[in-house]
Amino acid sequence: MNVQTGLVVLVCLMGFTCAEPVKFKDCGSVSGKVVIVDISPCAVQPCQLKKGQSYGVNVTFTSDVQSQTSTAVIHGVIAGVPVPYPIPNEDGCKSGIKCPIQPQQTYNYVNELPVKPEYPAIKLVVKWELRDDNKKDLFCILFPVQIVS
Ligand SMILES: *[C@@H]1O[C@H](CO)[C@@H](O)[C@H](O)[C@H]1NC(C)=O
Repeated sequence: MNVQTGLVVLVCLMGFTCAEPVKFKDCGSVSGKVVIVDISPCAVQPCQLKKGQSYGVNVTFTSDVQSQTSTAVIHGVIAGVPVPYPIPNEDGCKSGIKCPIQPQQTYNYVNELPVKPEYPAIKLVVKWELRDDNKKDLFCILFPVQIVS
């Protein structure tokens, strides 16, 4: 662990909300562009997600299109196989985005990633898409996580 990571861990342990930009891969955002991805708390990468807890997700993106709706589609990719990952609210327009979405505007998509106690303690890649009216991705991001007990 380097000094910077150590400091972040310390600050997080002190109970501050820590939203560190997470390393992500774009998996084909066509209707928009991702600016930044925050998971909190996530002190080390890949993010360690504790069973039974819920994590804040904040994706800042710029839209290229107009869209009345936005719908989140989430998968946990386990050993290359995408498995649907249920979240309480799939409506992007109720997740910090004011709809209709307008082109050339920047939005913060804010939601929760719940980790159920029955999930296995494994590493996986979360694939998070937000689809527009035409089912095209406003954003599509991949970020690795590790589920821990
Ligand atoms: C989401 O991230 C953006 C950019 O970092 C920030 O301005 C905004 O306050 C964040 N929103 C929440 C609810 O954390």
